[in-house]
Amino acid sequence: MAGLFITLEGPEGAGKTTNRQVLADGLAGHGVEVVLSREPGGTPLAEQVRELLLTPRDEPMAVDAELLLVFAGRAQHLATVIRPALQRGAVVLCDRFTDATYAYQGSGRGLDRARIAQLEQFVQGELRPDMTLLFDLPIEIGLQRAAARGRLDRFEQEAQAFFQRVRQGYLEQARAEPTRYHVLDASQPLEAVQTQVRALLPALLQRLQGR
Ligand code: TMP
Repeated sequence: MAGLFITLEGPEGAGKTTNRQVLADGLAGHGVEVVLSREPGGTPLAEQVRELLLTPRDEPMAVDAELLLVFAGRAQHLATVIRPALQRGAVVLCDRFTDATYAYQGSGRGLDRARIAQLEQFVQGELRPDMTLLFDLPIEIGLQRAAARGRLDRFEQEAQAFFQRVRQGYLEQARAEPTRYHVLDASQPLEAVQTQVRALLPALLQRLQGR
């Protein structure tokens, strides 16, 4: 497809959204159409699915139900936002995508990766992110930042061991796909992380020109 699909991943409180804006401003400054989105969510319907996923409730959510909701929202998001934007030649900067499913439902909840891969193929076909930025940081720092934001959502209420598995899952994925992944040290001061993000701009612009 003509555009570029860039995803931002990492634990809670890693500064993904702030850094996404830095990248968006840099690209827009070069006249590139940028579409900002997020998962779960990104369309009115998928945002409702997000509510279902994040709202704490008394009824425990079955792991398979969680997985299917994630991919239901993703199917809607892909059909109405991501694919049309990429076809127009835009850069899509998406806060989380399927790598989060491998990290949270796979490594975190212990779901079989093969099952996630089946749904990935079913919902996405051959579409994968062109580049993924992993904002890595020790879970204690991320959880403190998330707690400072207010009421914890259904995922943020998980035990520390869950977030350790999620972090390790992300790092393993990054090791397995070093060409697609860029790992950034998000424990550094925001300015330093933003400098790392800005350093990626020339390569991105070059890739866009090549399309
Ligand atoms: P956030 O977008 O505000 O960081 O929160 C979204 C939460 O949803 C986060 O805890 C990770 C979780 N999540 C999954 O469990 N699986 C997924 O596939 C995605 C995209 C997010």
